[in-house]
Amino acid sequence: MHDVVELRSDTFTLPSPAMRDAMARAEVGDDVYEEDPTVRRLEARAARQTGKEAGLLVTSGTQGNLVAILAQTQPGQEILLDADCHVFTSEVGGAARLGGLQTRPLATERGFLSPRQVRESVRGANIHLPVTGLVCIENTHNRHGGTCSTPEEIAAVAEAAHAAGVPVHLDGARLFNAAVALKRPAEDFTRHVDSLTFCLSKGLGAPVGSLICGSHSVIAQARRVRKMIGGGMRQAGVLAAAGLVAMETGIDRLAEDHARARQLAESLLGLPGLTLDLATVETNIVRFQVATAERATELVAGCAARKIKVHHAGPTSIRCVTHKDVDSEDIRRALDAFREITAAWR
Ligand SMILES: Cc1ncc(COP(=O)(O)O)c(C=O)c1O
Repeated sequence: MHDVVELRSDTFTLPSPAMRDAMARAEVGDDVYEEDPTVRRLEARAARQTGKEAGLLVTSGTQGNLVAILAQTQPGQEILLDADCHVFTSEVGGAARLGGLQTRPLATERGFLSPRQVRESVRGANIHLPVTGLVCIENTHNRHGGTCSTPEEIAAVAEAAHAAGVPVHLDGARLFNAAVALKRPAEDFTRHVDSLTFCLSKGLGAPVGSLICGSHSVIAQARRVRKMIGGGMRQAGVLAAAGLVAMETGIDRLAEDHARARQLAESLLGLPGLTLDLATVETNIVRFQVATAERATELVAGCAARKIKVHHAGPTSIRCVTHKDVDSEDIRRALDAFREITAAWR
């Protein structure tokens, strides 16, 4: 039980005592010279676990996506992505501003591009058209409620892109949530993509950091891009040490977050004035709608008054995210609050 129940995001997780201890004892060196042994260990582990040749530590998921995109495209090209994905909606237009790229958002039902959409959207050789430079996909999908695409869906999209000579980047900020939820090795989700990012600083519980993984040549180029945008860190082993603990202890534990999210969602279903599609609750995110914007504001404020923080994700949309610092008692308290506030809406 915690004084404040923090359900806004899994980015609020605090480093465990074991992480702090590992950070304090980390063996370090200058990572721009590739001489930080702890960073190298983390990058090797990330590569191994995603079935790729190499990994690269970056500061954040946003930096990881940007660097991976810039490493595989040329200014003036177009990238294909789903209209609700994080790269398009929430990364400050970095691909356009820093990569000179045109983003082409495509509407999807569950957040996942279909092979057909990719086939029909890759540009032809016509002189008027931009060149399609990259396809970006996201798994799990944040805005669609932490939904998972299967390894088979990813393979089919990648096959369509590769048939047109276009590489694929996977924003796997919560890749391991998908792997745990579908009980498949992470490698199954990443085998067919050319690059991927995953975050250490969300459900895995590290304070900072994301990894890009890909072939030696993609990672070599990504290393240059990371340096260009000021992301070359020096004794970054203090961060990597926490990341290694996160990878060792944080992955299997995600199943607990999924169970709590499910419990929360199932109990919310019966409350007046709330709409929720249980089918979207596959991992640690619960998104639901409130009948009016006023009531959504009332719900967020009522929760805050009870020391329960939820994310007001849109005018009538609320998001709750479970993570290692939310326990069963916290879920019970949150549900009591939702029940009390919505009781007046009957
Ligand atoms: C799907 C997805 N991609 C990328 C990011 C960006 O990660 P960061 O906050 O570390 O920049 C997030 C953050 O919530 C996300 O949900």
